[in-house]
Formats: sequence, structure tokens, C-alpha cells
Amino acid sequence: MYTRADIDRVRERTDLAELAAEVTKVRRSGRSVMAVCPFHAEKTPSLSIDPARGLYHCFGCGKSGDVFRWVQETQGLDFADAVEFLARRAGITITPQKGAAERKDRRARLVAAVEAAVAFYAETLKRSPEGGTARAYVRSRGYDVDVVDRFRLGYSPPGWNALVGHLRDLGISEEVMQAAGLVSRSRKGGLIDRFRGRLMFPIFDLRGDPVGFGARLLEGEGPKYLNSPETALYRKSRLLYGLNWAKSEIVRAGRAVVVEGYTDVIAFHLAGRPLAVATCGTALGTEHLDLLRRFTETVVLAFDADEAGVGAALRGFDQAVPGDLDLRVAVLPEGRDPADLVAAGDVAGLEAAVEGSVPLLGFRIERELGRHPLDEAEGRARAVRAAAALVARHPDPVVRHEYAVVVARRTGVALEFVEAAIADQGRPRTATRPAATSPPSLTGAEKAEREVLRLLLANDPGIRELEVAPDLFSRDDHREAFERVSALVGELPPGRPPDLGRLVEDDEDAVGHLLAALALEDRPLADAREVVDRLKERALQRRIDTLRAELDAMTPDERGYSEMFADLIALERRRRELRATE
Ligand code: UTP
Ligand code: MN
Repeated sequence: MYTRADIDRVRERTDLAELAAEVTKVRRSGRSVMAVCPFHAEKTPSLSIDPARGLYHCFGCGKSGDVFRWVQETQGLDFADAVEFLARRAGITITPQKGAAERKDRRARLVAAVEAAVAFYAETLKRSPEGGTARAYVRSRGYDVDVVDRFRLGYSPPGWNALVGHLRDLGISEEVMQAAGLVSRSRKGGLIDRFRGRLMFPIFDLRGDPVGFGARLLEGEGPKYLNSPETALYRKSRLLYGLNWAKSEIVRAGRAVVVEGYTDVIAFHLAGRPLAVATCGTALGTEHLDLLRRFTETVVLAFDADEAGVGAALRGFDQAVPGDLDLRVAVLPEGRDPADLVAAGDVAGLEAAVEGSVPLLGFRIERELGRHPLDEAEGRARAVRAAAALVARHPDPVVRHEYAVVVARRTGVALEFVEAAIADQGRPRTATRPAATSPPSLTGAEKAEREVLRLLLANDPGIRELEVAPDLFSRDDHREAFERVSALVGELPPGRPPDLGRLVEDDEDAVGHLLAALALEDRPLADAREVVDRLKERALQRRIDTLRAELDAMTPDERGYSEMFADLIALERRRRELRATE
């Protein structure tokens, strides 16, 4: 890698318009430079270039970036190679810093430390006298020596620093032990083992390198399961326990099963279906799904059917239903997890649950309907509204209609009312990234939000004086864009535009693309106070609308009704005041 200063020097000495002209047709007119986009097929130029800031954005395909990104994309180089290429081109000498090789060494050292711990714990489980209880526990779960070896199960001795001593003898530095998440500092300042007296489940990354542990308490006090802390190796939002073993079976079977924990993964293995994975001490998130998507499009969630299990699993998906993934739910008998079923010899029951899985959306709708008394008109109305909110998020109109039919049939409410309730929820939010440039139909609020972002990108002194809060933005991507620009502008004196060089992190970075597109828009800026007031009014309006909808679904004698009604009146008044000051 190179220093920030070197990279900036290269950037300053590179003219993006000239660079682009080397590979495509470039047309200048006045301050604006347009080029035929090399990233998609077109005849008329729709790629806009800002030579002063070294940024490009294509209004046709949405690609954007800076000079380095340009070279990476047009020549298939990585970032460091792109920097070197442009440095040579500009005749600048730059000096590489501690290189990538060193980072690789660092990783290897951390992996080696975790591997040494895996081996140590395994040895303790198998042979040490103090491993007796753990051996008995492992047997009681039905794990034979093959399972212990395959999953490399282990036992961490109950003493304070058995592992520390062992790793020290191997010549592993204390700094590495800590960075690998294996030890912590005691109050007295000495190093102590993080895991003590626990059954150890080593966690491997996709390559099969050990990166951390899940650890189950066997005796004494403490949390039932303890995991490695976040380290350079162990990133729980991107790790799935068991994927290293399951990936080929997942591809073969055409689906993955996500279970709650380590013991359930092993249970699927014992049942002869090694296609289960589990999150490591966190809820299932979109990054986990991205990981699974590399191997299959069908993902079955197999959790205990009680509220807690399913609720926790679904927490991540309140935002959107991922469109191209077939997310399904296997309904297990109440109070039973896969490990329980297998332990009870009910492999057939487990198979049946997975075979009989239902689409996640259908499952959620069913649960929602089950919460309301469908034998009363008000209950049916509430059930329809709640289900409509779920259905409305699905990007496919055919699917939305199909579920409308289901909801109508289940509740007995006429289809046209169900359809209307779904339409009332507003346009569906797709899980896919928004188009970077003005899509055909931005609402007034969305346009105003983008104006605010443009003002911030320019570090307009007017906007700096106003209070802009994240909740003024109606869309998640706008809110995220706002937080990013705020961070960029944060320390700068008003009026000085921020450095927009590394705005776009990578191709998938939709927010970065949006910001780049906005920064390049060549229109005069709006008046800061005017747009912000407009946004405040819209935000109020949104709160009013939700409150109204909630009140609509209630009867006046219900608890909380009058308080909510009072809130509504207060909000209405504030909105009128805002209007009056305009
Ligand atoms: P269980 O509570 O069933 O764990 O959670 P268990 O080890 O099977 O315990 P018993 O014998 O049924 O009481 C199932 C999985 O959920 C994860 C673990 O991976 C476990 O394998 N889990 C559970 C946690 O990560 N943290 C917890 O606190 C509990
Ligand atoms: Mn269990």
C-alpha cells in the first residue's frame, strides 16, 4: 500500500478527461465533459466527468468512481496496481509502505495462534485427566470420536492460564494471543485464558482456516455460550459456522439450511444431511445471506417454532425481503430444535420439516394473521392491515397479488379491500439497490432529500447553520448518504468542500454511487432553509400519516387511543406552524 499523501499526489496529477480519452470517445463542452461509457454498450455519451474533482458517473449504467477506480475497471487492476500505473504515467515516484505481504503474514500468524489453541483444546478433551467431565458430556450428546475429530471439538481447562502458558511455550507473542481473541487481561494486569472450563467448538472460515470459537459452559456459573470477540479474523456478521464443511453438500442439494447453533449443525451431520450452517452468536443478517448466495438460491431457516426462536431469526429482515433469494422456513415442532429431534432419533421428523418448508413471507403473514381475532370485524381489519404491510414490501406484483388472495381467503375480507390495504402501504421497497441517478419517479420528498445531500456535498454554509437530523430522510439510502457526507464535512470549516476522492468504495456501494452522481449534477444549489423546511414538513406529514393509520385501525375506547389522538392534534398544529413561516 501507499501513503495517503502519495495517493493524493497521483490523483492531483492525473487528468481524468485525458485518461478517459485513451480508451473512449470524450466530448467537452464548456465546463462539462461527457464520454461514451466504456462500461456498457452505448453510442451517445452518458458518462459525465468532472476533471476538477477527478470523478465520473454514468447516467446510463450507474457506474461511478475516481481516477483509480477508472483504471481498476478499465484495466482489471487492483487498487495498488492502479496507483502504480497512474504514478508511472504521471512520472511520479512513490514508495510502497509495509506491503500486502506483511498483512498476509499477520493473518497467517493469527491463524497459527488459533490453530494452536484448537489443537491444545482437542488434546485436552481427548486425553487430559481434567477433560473427564467434558468427555462424558460429549458422549451423552451422542458424539463419537469421528464427530469429535471432524468438528475438532475440544475442552478448555478450568484453570486461569493453561492456554497462555502453552502458547508462550510455542513462542507465540502475547500481542498475537490477544489479537486472536484467545486471552484477556486480568484486573491485576496478567494474561488469562478467555475460555475456561468449556466445551470448545472451533469456527472455521470458508477456506477452512480456524478463526475463533464458540464455547459451551459445562459446569459452574457464566453465560451458556461464549464466543470469540471480534478480531481481524473473526467477524461474526460474515461468518457461518459449518459452511466450510457444508458448502459442497449445499451445492449438491440445491439448498442450505440455517439453524440456531453449533449443536444443530452437528445434528444435521449426524442425520446424514450435512448441509446446515449457523450464525455465531448473532442474528442472521444480509451479509450471511450474501455468503450463502454464492452456493445456492434456496435458504431454509430451521428454528424452534416458539416465538423467541423465530422472532430472533427474523429480526434482520424487517427492512426488506431479499428479492432473488428463496428464503423459506421449516416449521419444527414447538420447543424442539434440530439437535433435540436427532437426539430423540426423529431424523424423519427433521427431514419432513425441511421438505415441508414454506416461503418466509407466507410464514410471516400466517403468524401475523394468527395474532388477531378473526371472528371480529375489527380484528379482521387489523389483521389485513398488518399482513398488507408485509405483502407490500415484496417487489413482485404477481407475488403481491397471490398473497392478497391468500389473505382475503384466510380473513374472509373481500379481495378488493385487501388489495387496497396493500396499495395503501405505498410503493413496495425492493431489496435491490436503488438506481444511482434520478429514476423516473422520485417523489417530491425524495427530490428535496437529494437537494439537501447536494448542499452538504458542497459544504454549503447555509445548510451548516441548520439542524438536519437523520430522521428527516424518508429513505434508508438517503439517510446513510447523509451520515456519510456529514462525517466527511464534520471537521471542515463551512464553505470548504470535502475531499470526494474515495467516495465510492466498490461496485456494490450504492450509496457511494448515489453521492457521486449528486456531486456531479451540474445545477445551481437550492436554498438551504427552504428545502430543509420542506423536509421537516414532509417528515411531520409521515408521522401524521402513520399515526392516522394506526388510529384508523383502533376503536376509540381502546387503551391509548386518546393519547394518540392528542399526539396527532399536536403534530397537525406543528405542521401548520411550519407552513405559516414559509
Ligand atoms: P441450546 O440452548 O439448545 O444449547 O441452543 P445446547 O447446547 O443444545 O443446550 P441444551 O443441552 O439443549 O440445554 C442451541 C444452539 O444455540 C446456540 C448454540 O450454538 C447452541 O448450539 N446458542 C445457544 C448460543 O449461541 N448462545 C446461547 O446462549 C444459547
Ligand atoms: Mn439444545
